[in-house]
Amino acid sequence: MINIIKNTIKKELELFLYNTFNEKIEVTVEKPKNQKMGDISIPVFSAVKVLRKPLPQVVEIISEEVSKSKYANFFDEINKVSGFINISLNKSEFSKSVVNEVKKTENYGESDFGQGKTIVMDYSSPNIAKPFSVGHLRSTVIGNAIGNILEKLNYKVIRINHLGDFGTQFGKIIYAYLNYGDKKKVEENPIEELMKLYVDFHERAKNDPSIEDKAREIFKDLEQGKPEYVKLWEHFREVSLEEYMKVYHVLGVKFDSYNGEAFYNDKMQAIVEELKEKDLLVKDQGAMIVSLSENLPPALIQKSDGSTLYITRDLAALFYRKNTYNFDEVLYVVGNEQKLHFTQLREVVKRMGYHYYEDIHHINFGLVLQDGKKMATRKGKIVKLMDVLNEATKLSLDYINEKNPSLENKEDIAQKVGVSAIIFNDLKNYRANDIEFNLSDMVNFVGQTGPYLQYTSVRISSIIEENTIDQDNIDYELYTSSASFELIKTIDEYPEVLIKAKEEYSPSILAKYLLTLASYFNTYYAQEKVMVEDIIERNTKLFLISIVRDILDDGMKLLGMQVIKKM
Ligand code: ARG
Repeated sequence: MINIIKNTIKKELELFLYNTFNEKIEVTVEKPKNQKMGDISIPVFSAVKVLRKPLPQVVEIISEEVSKSKYANFFDEINKVSGFINISLNKSEFSKSVVNEVKKTENYGESDFGQGKTIVMDYSSPNIAKPFSVGHLRSTVIGNAIGNILEKLNYKVIRINHLGDFGTQFGKIIYAYLNYGDKKKVEENPIEELMKLYVDFHERAKNDPSIEDKAREIFKDLEQGKPEYVKLWEHFREVSLEEYMKVYHVLGVKFDSYNGEAFYNDKMQAIVEELKEKDLLVKDQGAMIVSLSENLPPALIQKSDGSTLYITRDLAALFYRKNTYNFDEVLYVVGNEQKLHFTQLREVVKRMGYHYYEDIHHINFGLVLQDGKKMATRKGKIVKLMDVLNEATKLSLDYINEKNPSLENKEDIAQKVGVSAIIFNDLKNYRANDIEFNLSDMVNFVGQTGPYLQYTSVRISSIIEENTIDQDNIDYELYTSSASFELIKTIDEYPEVLIKAKEEYSPSILAKYLLTLASYFNTYYAQEKVMVEDIIERNTKLFLISIVRDILDDGMKLLGMQVIKKM
């Protein structure tokens, strides 16, 4: 609502200045730096400059016009303070319109911002035969949250898990497996054993470099579809995916497609041909490359032995997606370390003459750190994600046992709290920054944590309890107290917050907003007595906090967290 009012004032004033003085002046309508200055502020300096009239006179002219605004009935006071015109809103009128907006929309926060547009999202995308890393966890969690926010804005979202299921490493794994792999061990513990074989291969290659050639040979045969290798590869892919599915299940994440790199194996020759036709491909020491601008290394498209590369498969994937989904945007949720790759991808697409290179966005993110260092187990191995999720569950259960030992379904709730805590800890930070991973901090019920949000929602529900709320029996005057009005203004911001989160592809905007909303609720609840005798007053207050709870729940779901009924 406040944004509608601000935009209207802006348009009204710009039109007025144009009609009266024949000048195009950009008017700023903003939130005052200081709350005491009111709710809306209009600096007039730019108008003074253009109109070349004394400041007081310009202030006079503009404030006169402001008082005639379409929304003037919402204004309590218009104050002229040096170069600013400050407006205080009529709190009860404003509250009424905000609450009416909430009442009339079934899915508050929804908008048609993305109506008719399709966004392809490429996220999670772990590499098969390797453990699911904390980096892939970040991609999964960030991608899922952005996808949910987009859907709330009515975008059509296609969620793709671009599995790393192809590349020369499979030649190595197959070589190792066939020559010295223990089939039984692989059966029992596929990912770990395959990973070991891969590491082992590199050890052996140090003494016997010829096995590198053998592995390359195997990969070439695999690319060409040699049945023996294809069968093994399929098996490795299947057992890996089974493991990842466990993680996705716990996180509540789903995909529309698991077409990984291998899916594009038969679609790459066409890319190579097209690049040739467009005169973009040059031979360089036997390999095929596309040279890019001066400060960008060339893109390696085909190795001298004819095998293709990561970027070749990404080009094939991009064209396939454009043809299949006709996307308006494609988002790649991948770590900072692949910045160069996506810059090159974009540049190649641009040189190929496709204007939609502009719609390719690398949604980058930082590392996961523990005590400031890259996360690893004590022995320096990759941390297994399932272990981390289990650990978070255990810590939450300890916490519940301490605070509320008689809670029903403790184990289930502990898992929901623990996993959501990890998700929230990730999303509350701007994604491109590194995040610190401290489990006991994140499962804490106080502080800027997931459990704090879940707990606030549960707390509101326990206040409302069995009371039925009558939405038509509201005394809007009661929403004018300062703690109430803070809540009203924050409730009003929700739809805008979601749009902003989309524009910056940053769930942290929503995460921080939810923290603010929860903390305003807590201030409110400390200041006002809700369960009063007076029926209208009680109803009015319960309704306000029920809106807060619904937004908290909705926002948490969008972030991919679990909403809990009791804790
Ligand atoms: N599998 C890759 C990795 O783990 C990420 C793939 C990202 N998506 C893409 N289309 N390149 O590094």
